[in-house]
Amino acid sequence: MTSSASVAESVDSGRPGRLPASCGPVSAAVIDALAGDPSTATVLPAVPGGVDPLGADVQLALYICYELHYRGFEDVDDEWEWNVDLLGLRAVLEHRFLARVRESVEPGDDAVAEMDAMSIEPRSGTGPSWYLRDHASWAQMQEYLANRSLYHLKEADPHAWAIPRLTGQTKASFVAVEYDEFGAGAGVDMHQRLFVDAMHSAGMDTSYLGYIDSAAPEMLAIVNLMSLFGLHRSLRGAVVGHFAATEITSSPSAARLVTALRRLDAPEPCIRFYAEHVEADAVHEQILRHDVVGSLLVTHPELEADIVFGMRALTFVEDRFAEAMLRRWTL
Ligand SMILES: [Fe+2]
Ligand SMILES: [Fe+2]
Repeated sequence: MTSSASVAESVDSGRPGRLPASCGPVSAAVIDALAGDPSTATVLPAVPGGVDPLGADVQLALYICYELHYRGFEDVDDEWEWNVDLLGLRAVLEHRFLARVRESVEPGDDAVAEMDAMSIEPRSGTGPSWYLRDHASWAQMQEYLANRSLYHLKEADPHAWAIPRLTGQTKASFVAVEYDEFGAGAGVDMHQRLFVDAMHSAGMDTSYLGYIDSAAPEMLAIVNLMSLFGLHRSLRGAVVGHFAATEITSSPSAARLVTALRRLDAPEPCIRFYAEHVEADAVHEQILRHDVVGSLLVTHPELEADIVFGMRALTFVEDRFAEAMLRRWTL
């Protein structure tokens, strides 16, 4: 057990991540391109028609394209963010990813009913947090933390893209929750930073994107979905629904993680990260339900189906991740 791990001097260096290794022709083409000069004409191959939009190669390529809008990459020119050829390739990948998610999710048009259903906590479940609570080894917990680091080290950043796309009370309440996620003015309390502390105390690599090469493609899809929703004004209803679903489902799942980490005698910063989410997300849920979604439904009722889509899309990608992890752990 790692309870003796030093928790001192845990820091977020703020540095960008290293480019990952490719895992197929699409991600290889993107990585090769990024070695070059973004101001010269770039030749990127067409995306093969039969490629799986949820598979590792497309998800990694998409993740790399999106990452240029966050911290970028070590030794990659920041101007690649707006290279038109790369943006064109990204648009093809996004289109196929979004189409697959839409095909896989039943449409719905009652956001309140959707949130009510999500708020009912089952007595038992089969997802990773249930397995981690009752059965997982420390190595399995670390594998879970490694995968989740892809999101938690940029926690709340993808939803922040939505802020200028919202107005009035919806925007004010959305920002109130984001303010908490970003530590309410204290850098050391940012949830991104709390996760650095957690990983450091667990003896894990705290570098940004440190685990991208070993992350499950289903985890990449979870983060890519948020980036996709956040970066498209046309999906602003979906990003609000996604944020609401995130906050509604987070608190009970975080409570199971706290129990799991205590059972495994995990270092205190690991417990703190999830304990903070048990409390904070119970409050965030109420703000999202009533003030964010509630006000958006009043001002923009035409977005209701998109809000529900965002909620169901989150469930879809999370269920795929859950199945992938449980397959690894139990077969
Ligand atoms: Fe958080
Ligand atoms: Fe939250």
